[in-house]
Amino acid sequence: MKVLVTGAAGHIGKNLVKAIHQKYELVLTDIKQDDELKQFGHFQHADLAVPEQVDELAKNVDAIVHLGGIATESTYELINRSNFNGTYHIYEAARKHGIKRIVFASSNHAVGFQPINQSIGPDALHMPDTFYGASKAFGENLANMYYQKHAIETASLRIGSYLEKPSEHRNLNTWISVRDMNQLIVCCLEADEISTDVYYGVSSLYNNYFDNRDAALIGYAPQDNPEDFRKEIENVKLENVTDYIGGVFTNFGR
Ligand SMILES: NC(=O)c1ccc[n+]([C@@H]2O[C@H](COP(=O)([O-])OP(=O)(O)OC[C@H]3O[C@@H](n4cnc5c(N)ncnc54)[C@H](O)[C@@H]3O)[C@@H](O)[C@H]2O)c1
Repeated sequence: MKVLVTGAAGHIGKNLVKAIHQKYELVLTDIKQDDELKQFGHFQHADLAVPEQVDELAKNVDAIVHLGGIATESTYELINRSNFNGTYHIYEAARKHGIKRIVFASSNHAVGFQPINQSIGPDALHMPDTFYGASKAFGENLANMYYQKHAIETASLRIGSYLEKPSEHRNLNTWISVRDMNQLIVCCLEADEISTDVYYGVSSLYNNYFDNRDAALIGYAPQDNPEDFRKEIENVKLENVTDYIGGVFTNFGR
């Protein structure tokens, strides 16, 4: 399978391509130049905001792992450019080139204003906490539209906190380890059928924030558990912590 990975020079992207380059033929792209990536696949520099450049990337690939974009809160203009427009360009390129599967890096911030301690599932209402979170909710909706109209399947991964190891109290419910993230993405690429599935990108199938048991149905079996770090992190709490899933993001811009 030939897989296009956007945001390949980013944190998740780079670890992912190191882990999967022997399994798949990779086309790697980012707005950042990264010479190290060349050993893992064909690197093609592109700006997701430029449709012609995105169109070039999508020629002759079978699936897309769409990680590229601004990965935190920013101005509406910048989020609009890279995330709203960038994701739209990815779907248009997939449609034009007959690509039938996308793994979309969504975020817990698409549902950031959902209260904690209720274990929301994949059908939880979008309640974005930022322009960033709104761009992820938009991406998930775009995925639904392109599935209904063009049969493009998407697994939207509402990623929690991707870290080498958990570092604060909130991570007891949001952490995903590097190897679990890689595993979840591979499960999404390999699953027989995914339509417009939503999974939580966390290293647990069930916790106070997320009910991610559906992910087990596509073979996701997380190997790591934030509970192993409880002693180190349970008393580490950020300032202005909130009772919402999005944590401090729910305070931004108020
Ligand atoms: N890291 C997390 O905890 C986390 C949590 C939730 C969601 N996510 C999502 O996962 C994805 C990857 O996250 P990450 O932590 O690796 O972020 P990152 O910032 O390290 O990587 C994102 C990459 O996208 C690239 N990019 C940004 N704008 C671009 C553009 N216009 N054209 C081309 N490339 C562009 C950046 O250069 C960067 O290399 C992002 O979409 C992010 O929103 C991450």
